[in-house]
Amino acid sequence: MSAITYLTRTWLTRSFRPFLFTNAYDQKLPYEACENLGLYIHIPFCERICAFCPYCKVLYSKKLCDRYLDALIQEIHMAGRQTTDKKTVTSLYFGGGTPAMIVERIGEIIEAVKEHFIITEGIGVELHPDNVRVSVLQMLKEAGVTKISIGVQSFQEKFQQILGRKPVDLAAMAAALEEVEFETVSMDFIFALPGQTFADLKTDIDTAFANGANHIAIYPFIDFTFTQSPVKALPKREKQRLLDDITNYCLDKGYVRSSIWTFARERQARYSSMTRDNFLGFGCSATTLLQGQFKINTFSVEGYCERIRKGELPTSLTLRFTRRQRMVYYLFWTAYSTRVNEADFEKFFGVPLKRMYGSALWIARALGFVTYEDGVYRMTLKGAFYYHYYENFYTLAYIDKMWGIMRKEAFPKQIRL
Ligand SMILES: C[S@@+](CC[C@H](N)C(=O)[O-])C[C@H]1O[C@@H](n2cnc3c(N)ncnc32)[C@H](O)[C@@H]1O
Ligand code: SF4
Repeated sequence: MSAITYLTRTWLTRSFRPFLFTNAYDQKLPYEACENLGLYIHIPFCERICAFCPYCKVLYSKKLCDRYLDALIQEIHMAGRQTTDKKTVTSLYFGGGTPAMIVERIGEIIEAVKEHFIITEGIGVELHPDNVRVSVLQMLKEAGVTKISIGVQSFQEKFQQILGRKPVDLAAMAAALEEVEFETVSMDFIFALPGQTFADLKTDIDTAFANGANHIAIYPFIDFTFTQSPVKALPKREKQRLLDDITNYCLDKGYVRSSIWTFARERQARYSSMTRDNFLGFGCSATTLLQGQFKINTFSVEGYCERIRKGELPTSLTLRFTRRQRMVYYLFWTAYSTRVNEADFEKFFGVPLKRMYGSALWIARALGFVTYEDGVYRMTLKGAFYYHYYENFYTLAYIDKMWGIMRKEAFPKQIRL
C-alpha cells in the first residue's frame, strides 16, 4: 500500500488498525433508521469489453442475463422485506456494465424496488453512446427514469482509438436527446490520456453542452493494474494543469461544480450515486454503506445467482467500522461534493466536527486546501487537485487491490487493506 494512504489513514483514524474485510456477513441489513439513503443497482453485461474498464462486467448472453435479473429481483425483495413500512430513499441509480442491455426488463426491476422504497429524487441510468436512440430512451422514460449519464469518453477519434472505442454517432445521439427529454443528461469524459491537451477537452465540453447535455463528468484516467490496457496516464504536473484549466474554463462559463469531477449548466441537473451518507447496493459487485458497516457483493455472476437461489444475500466481504474509520469514510465521500457541513457531521455522529478533526482542518485551511464560512468547509482549486491526487492513491491502494482479488475469487475469506 502506498505510504501516503497508510500514513493519512493512521493519522485520521488515530489507529494502526487496517481496514479488515471478512466473509462473515449479516442476513439482516440495518438500514431502517438510516437517513439520506440512496439505492444502486449493478447490471454487469456489455456487448463488447473495453480494455481500460475496471468495472465488474461480462459479455452479454440472453440466458445468463435473464437468470441474473430474476436473482436481482429476489435480492431486492430479500433486502426490502426487512422493514415493515416502505422506506424513503433519495435516488436509485443503475450502473454497469451497460444497463440499457436490459431495457425491456428495467420497468419490472423498478416496480420491485417501489414495492419497498419511496424514491424522492429520481432514477438515473448509465448509457453507452450506442444506446442513445429514441426507442431506448422512450422505454427508459416510460419506466420512470429521470436522469441519464452517457459514457462518451471523448468525441475525438484519436482518443477513441487510444481507448479502443468506436466513434460516437453524434448526430444520432443529439437527435434522440432532442426528442426524448430528461431532467439530467450527463456525459462522461476521460482526461489525462496520452497527448491530450486543454484544447481537446474544451472542444469535448463545448460539444457536449451543444448536443443535449446539461451536466458533464470529467474523470482522470486510471491505469488499473488488472486491466489489459496499454494506455498510460499523463504525469502529475500535466494532469494538474489540465484539471485546473478545465475547472477554470467551466467556472468562467458559469457552470456549477457539483462534485470534484462534475459540472452542471443548470443547477437542478445532478448525477451522483456517490455523495450519499448511506446506500444499499444490489447486484454483482454492488456496495452497501451503512452506519456501522461497508459490504460488497460478489463479482461472480454465477456465484451471485447461486447465493440467491439458496435464499441468502450475495455479500462477499464486510468491513465493520470503528467509529473513527466511519468518520474518515464519511469525510472522504462528503468531500467528493467539494464541501463538508459541520452541522451535518454533528447530526450524523453526535459530536462536533471541530472536536474530532480540529487540527486536521486547521492545517487544511493553513495550506489553502479549504476555506471556512458559516459552518461549511469548501475546497479550493488547490484542495480539489490534492483531493483528486489523493483519490488516485486511494483507488490504486485500496480499490485496485480489492477488485483485483474479487475478479478472481467469488468469496475470498478476508482482505486486509
Ligand atoms: C461503467 S463505466 C461506462 C458506462 C457505459 N458502459 C459506457 O461504456 O459508456 C462508467 C464510466 O467510468 C469511467 N471509466 C471507466 N474506466 C475508467 C478508467 N480506467 N479511468 C477513469 N475512468 C474510467 C468512464 O468515463 C465511464 O463512462
Ligand atoms: S466501459 Fe462500458 S462498455 Fe466498456 S467494458 Fe466498461 S462498462 Fe462495458
